[in-house]
Amino acid sequence: MAVRTIREEGDEILRKKSREVEVIDEKIKELIEDMIETMHKANGVGLSAVQVGILKRIVVIDLYDEKGPIRLINPVITKTKGEQEVEEGCLSFPNQYGKIIRPAEVTVEALNENGEKIKIKAKGLLAQAISHELDHLEGILFVDNIIPGTLQYVEPEEK
Ligand code: NI
Repeated sequence: MAVRTIREEGDEILRKKSREVEVIDEKIKELIEDMIETMHKANGVGLSAVQVGILKRIVVIDLYDEKGPIRLINPVITKTKGEQEVEEGCLSFPNQYGKIIRPAEVTVEALNENGEKIKIKAKGLLAQAISHELDHLEGILFVDNIIPGTLQYVEPEEK
């Protein structure tokens, strides 16, 4: 496994639409594990393949709970319910946060790393993370949809 470079604000690839994964081969599996390692190193709760420069419809999410990392290939949101106003950031926009309206609940269907169909019903932070990461696959960034005037730059803590 390896940590990959996270593409940041201004990188044009972040605006491109990702393509479906047709075959889940060893290269795809390695990419997914690298994405998880990259997300963990950056203390993120989600990462899409485009953020490491690969235009494929792959998302990883980890809320650091008992579920462990979630791997979603070709994910599609099939149902949303309600709204939540939440604080949000993105690993591609270091130290920037804003308020955004996300669905309160989402149902997502995808393939897992073994090519099996999975369906997840999520609410709260998981629904937010799924919604955020799936936007990346369309080239949509959280800053596009934040509530005007709520974007803040937060200085990183000294290490
Ligand atoms: Ni993001």
